[in-house]
Amino acid sequence: MSGVLHLHMVSKRYGRVQALDAVTLRVEAGSRLAIVGPSGSGKTTLLRMVAGFDTPDSGTVQLGETCLATPVSFVPAHLRDIGIVSQDGALFPHLSIAQNIGFGLPKDTPGRDKEIAQLLEMVGLEQHMLARKPDEISGGQQQRVALARALARRPRLMLLDEPFSALDTGLRASTRRAVADLLSARGITTVLVTHDQGEALSFADQVAVMRDGRILQAGDPRDLYLRPDSPFVAAFLGDAMILEATIRDGQAQTRLGSIATATATAQRPATIVLRPEQIVLQPGQEGGEGCVARIAAVEFGGAGSLVTLELVGPFADGGPAVVLHRNGLADLRVGDIVSLSVVGAAHVFPAGD
Ligand SMILES: Nc1ncnc2c1ncn2[C@@H]1O[C@H](COP(=O)(O)OP(=O)(O)OP(=O)(O)O)[C@@H](O)[C@H]1O
Ligand SMILES: [Mg+2]
Repeated sequence: MSGVLHLHMVSKRYGRVQALDAVTLRVEAGSRLAIVGPSGSGKTTLLRMVAGFDTPDSGTVQLGETCLATPVSFVPAHLRDIGIVSQDGALFPHLSIAQNIGFGLPKDTPGRDKEIAQLLEMVGLEQHMLARKPDEISGGQQQRVALARALARRPRLMLLDEPFSALDTGLRASTRRAVADLLSARGITTVLVTHDQGEALSFADQVAVMRDGRILQAGDPRDLYLRPDSPFVAAFLGDAMILEATIRDGQAQTRLGSIATATATAQRPATIVLRPEQIVLQPGQEGGEGCVARIAAVEFGGAGSLVTLELVGPFADGGPAVVLHRNGLADLRVGDIVSLSVVGAAHVFPAGD
């Protein structure tokens, strides 16, 4: 039976580093949490506390009805019934791929060989690999075997630390989908650590953003993306254009002109965020209506290009260039004049950030 994972005020210090600082989190039974945050923000440390590889200095970790770690009790890792795929995969080098995957499956499990073969197929590997040793397959293949091994044990809770990082884009997406489907089908509560914002937003029911050992914000992926509490969270979950503004009558007055907001009318200085998909560029002319800019650079990147704009005319303020991701098919050339308009409302950060 899978269960609710509950961390309450979990802290951990390594020497001078506060790796975890009063982390409180709740992951509903059978749901998926994705954790994102800069390198060194405490993501792996958090997983290690849950797995039982290390003890918190303070706080509690609970899974279902079981207290895994409290100031006075500690359940050892091998008794927690938790699957973990670590950042480096860590297969048993002396065992074959089949033996690695079957490691947690008792020898008398009915249909054991079939289950191993199915797991291998699910992570997109060919059956002839079963007899090989880990050093006879590639790094990305090892990562997928580690996933299959963790899934084979049907744990109550699955901890995944960058499990797809060595896979290329297409394979990454298909493996992720297959793993998400299997976790859902089996109702396994899951925590995924990833550096890929798109992966976090698409894989999880709940996303948490960490910095310096703290959870800055956690919630529904759409909510976090559209209504982040701070510029840091906004920028961490995707491209973000952060602008200083004065809010007046539901409009944000910014260097790009007046932009609708979904906020109250009080007049106050504020910071707003726009996502690049909210900004429309159309052919324009210098001296035209609204915000006009000249294309200063176009960096082609295949599906998307990075476009640098300099504001011109009455909007030229000597401020920083505006940098936007655009569809790679957009016919934008250096020197073109374009007009900028905004679709939908800008999000206003709560005061104090
Ligand atoms: N065993 C340890 N001894 C000393 N310091 C540690 C130890 N483990 C982690 N740290 C420190 O704690 C902080 C958090 O590390 P952690 O591995 O949790 O980061 P992370 O968010 O997983 O980073 P990355 O994205 O690079 O994997 C870092 O500053 C790290 O150097
Ligand atoms: Mg890590």
